[in-house]
Amino acid sequence: MTKTKSHKINLFKEQNTITCLEDQTILEANLAAHVNHTHACGGQGKCSTCRVSVMKGIENCNPRNTEEQLIAEKLNFPIEVRLACQTKITGDVSIRRMVSDKLDMDIISEQFSPDSKVALGSQQKLTIVFTDIVNYTSFAEKFPPYDIVHVLNRYYRIMNATIQKNHGFISDVAGDGILAIFGLYNKKNNSVLDAVEAIKGMRENLVTFNTYLKENFNTAFEIRAGIHFGDVIVGPFDTGEMKKLAVVGDNVNYASRIESANKEFNTKQLLSEEAYQEITDLFPKYNSFKTTLKGKTGEYKLYEIVSE
Ligand code: FES
Repeated sequence: MTKTKSHKINLFKEQNTITCLEDQTILEANLAAHVNHTHACGGQGKCSTCRVSVMKGIENCNPRNTEEQLIAEKLNFPIEVRLACQTKITGDVSIRRMVSDKLDMDIISEQFSPDSKVALGSQQKLTIVFTDIVNYTSFAEKFPPYDIVHVLNRYYRIMNATIQKNHGFISDVAGDGILAIFGLYNKKNNSVLDAVEAIKGMRENLVTFNTYLKENFNTAFEIRAGIHFGDVIVGPFDTGEMKKLAVVGDNVNYASRIESANKEFNTKQLLSEEAYQEITDLFPKYNSFKTTLKGKTGEYKLYEIVSE
């Protein structure tokens, strides 16, 4: 009788090494070794609570089967995240169980809710836009908090409609600043072009908004914008009371610095080199500026689109 081959599973959290037979799944090996490995659907490949991060030896894992592939696509799993109940190994691996407690379970069950469109912590190439309002500070100094909040809410509401119309969403607001993201939901579009169109629409809407501001506050706003295209980590962030789809990463800070550079060059909209490359055929005329950016090393070339 031929003996079934076995391999080692190094368990990062448990600081332990167990044996896994080639015809066993990682989950089965863990349960046989009395590891408390969550498996809410009983190993059917339906719940994803058995998910593990394969820290070493991903090449020793069998390819994803249909069940696992479906979940991996829905939740945007990176290559190293595997369902322990569907994964068998042909060599040694090191893994970390990703579901430890009820809080982890709650987060996962929300990822399966029908309105959850984005997996926790996926990295994607997206267009990041920061805008702020010229004249906002002088407006905020002159009027009471109630008026400021009311005006900002009116502004956000109008601008959000334009951003959404161009396939973007507002990830965050802070005072007069808006952080908007493009490219997450409509993969077919050029997301930098969507962003440029959205900002154009925001400026058009500002004309009507400024009539209101003129009548009620004797002031008018202008919008400044910074646009960058690059990798960010995107996911639903949840404090328990507040949930939002947010982006994090160095490229988010980069976009913010680009927006700030408008003051230096007296411009209203600047794009990073990476963003401009995406739309160079559509907008061949440009001004460019070389500058250093706060918190970043080296020189950066920024672009201002020149309209015909
Ligand atoms: S236990 Fe449910 S997917 Fe693995």
